[in-house]
Amino acid sequence: MATNKKALVGVVMGSPSDWEIMQHAARQLKDFGVAYEARALSAHRTPEALEDWMANLEKRGVRCFIAGAGGAAHLAGVVAAKTTLPVLGVPIPSRHLQGLDSLLSMVQMPKGVPVATFAIGEAGAANAALFAVAMLALGDAHLAKELEEFRDRQAQAVLAAKLPD
Ligand code: RP5
Repeated sequence: MATNKKALVGVVMGSPSDWEIMQHAARQLKDFGVAYEARALSAHRTPEALEDWMANLEKRGVRCFIAGAGGAAHLAGVVAAKTTLPVLGVPIPSRHLQGLDSLLSMVQMPKGVPVATFAIGEAGAANAALFAVAMLALGDAHLAKELEEFRDRQAQAVLAAKLPD
């Protein structure tokens, strides 16, 4: 994926097969106009490339990382081991255990190296992006207003919903 010089969020996933879920994080960031850079890089298959990419993004001013992985989902933990920036983890649904393995691998970090772990799947990916937006909004009044408007629209959609008779 294209390099974004001003990326504020690094979105990484363990495999291109994770994109089906992680695109929901990317779309949410895009909707808020938050610059991000997304890559498929694995803690197990491409550890050096992961480290190089992270170092390069940090040099360019990235503010947090969103990491999605499935199965033996060590990616977010490895990213957290290499940075003190916030790391938001998205457990990807796996073929055999439906993502429970990913969730448990990701959430059970040792004390001292946190990963903020979100729900399994699409909701987790979208919420990780919304959480990144909320963190960035702490120092950006325009983004904070957009986040409030997003919540208002969401509330209105629930209130206006008509249930079948
Ligand atoms: C993990 O293994 C990836 O994050 C992915 O969820 C899972 C399967 O990867 P592929 O075999 O589809 O490349 O590392």
